[in-house]
Amino acid sequence: MSDSSKEDYSDYFEVTPWKVEGSVDYARLIKKFGTQEITDELLEKFKSFTGELHPLLEHKFFFSHRDLDWILNKYENNEKFYLYTGRGPSGMVHLGHLMPWFLTKHLQDKFDSNLLFQITDDEKFLYGNKSMEEINRNVYENILDIIAIGFNKSKTKIIVNSKHIKHLYSTSLEIAKRITFSTAKSIFGFTNSTNIGMIGFPPLQGVPCFLPSILEGRPTPVLIPAAIDQDPYWRLTRDIAEKIGFYKPAQIHSKFLPSLQTVGKMSSSDPETAIFTTDDLDVIEKKISNTFTGGQPTISLQKKLGGNPGVCSVFSYLKYMFDTPAESNERELRCRSGNLLCGECKNDLSSHSTSFISIFQQKREKAKDLVSEFMYSEDR
Ligand code: TRP
Repeated sequence: MSDSSKEDYSDYFEVTPWKVEGSVDYARLIKKFGTQEITDELLEKFKSFTGELHPLLEHKFFFSHRDLDWILNKYENNEKFYLYTGRGPSGMVHLGHLMPWFLTKHLQDKFDSNLLFQITDDEKFLYGNKSMEEINRNVYENILDIIAIGFNKSKTKIIVNSKHIKHLYSTSLEIAKRITFSTAKSIFGFTNSTNIGMIGFPPLQGVPCFLPSILEGRPTPVLIPAAIDQDPYWRLTRDIAEKIGFYKPAQIHSKFLPSLQTVGKMSSSDPETAIFTTDDLDVIEKKISNTFTGGQPTISLQKKLGGNPGVCSVFSYLKYMFDTPAESNERELRCRSGNLLCGECKNDLSSHSTSFISIFQQKREKAKDLVSEFMYSEDR
């Protein structure tokens, strides 16, 4: 392999709604997808509404947007917005999934927003090898996680695509009619061997962008907090929104939480690389002790050379989930200067994660009684 091809390889990354591969260069992704960076200036504006900055914004875990400034202006002019987010029930929920949901809850609290939460059981059946039965089980388990986040019951509605299809179908037709195969192909990379269910699916994910306008009887702004891999759906929806009399949905995009073993996205399909909300606490401890870090191979080298938090998944988890920005900066300095060993960070992550998950599991239990109250219905 020549040097230049090696370089190409290390530069390689790919982000689609179904696959995240390689080490993602987020600045390049903003250019590639044509989204906007969340600047300090925009964060200041945001803060003028919320009074404080959520750590996920302050840390720039949410780093990119479309029309966030527009939706804040609307809010300032007394046009309230809906929130819309979702979950593909391909498996159980892990910590990486919770991050956009935490921010969604924060936004719901601060802006007193209604929230639509879509579960795309159809998408996960069509993509992959899971049976509908298995997916139905995931749907139920995932709903418990969603409720456990603590969303406002009277302002949150969960939509399960196959169950609520009669509320989605006519709007999905309006969308589908205006999207050609050639557009869908270029946005999603469909090929001749893609099953036609997948090709027909994207309009359904677009529907909740417009449902608030239909429910409210007037054009209603919608803000979507989601990981950036979902952006292709919103590009498609934005293309046709105005043609059918709706606002383009605004978005706020997060990065991916790295998996525990390597760089890349935490994945439900590889259980060892993720901390699930249903994991036993001793399993979590064990996973964390086996985690990939940015440390040196030996303690003496670590003291001499320092570690690299930039590639360390333990550092990322602590940073985005548990450390305050000041604590995280201090951790980084101590690590880089060789004054912090990986064992200490692993212990910190282990104790934070186990106490977080044990409380979360109690909330999940309580959620079992609330499922029907969170389900979408038009009469509210
Ligand atoms: N397609 C998403 C997934 O696979 C699920 C989803 C549906 C979603 N609607 C959404 C995610 C809106 C974020 C925002 O996970």
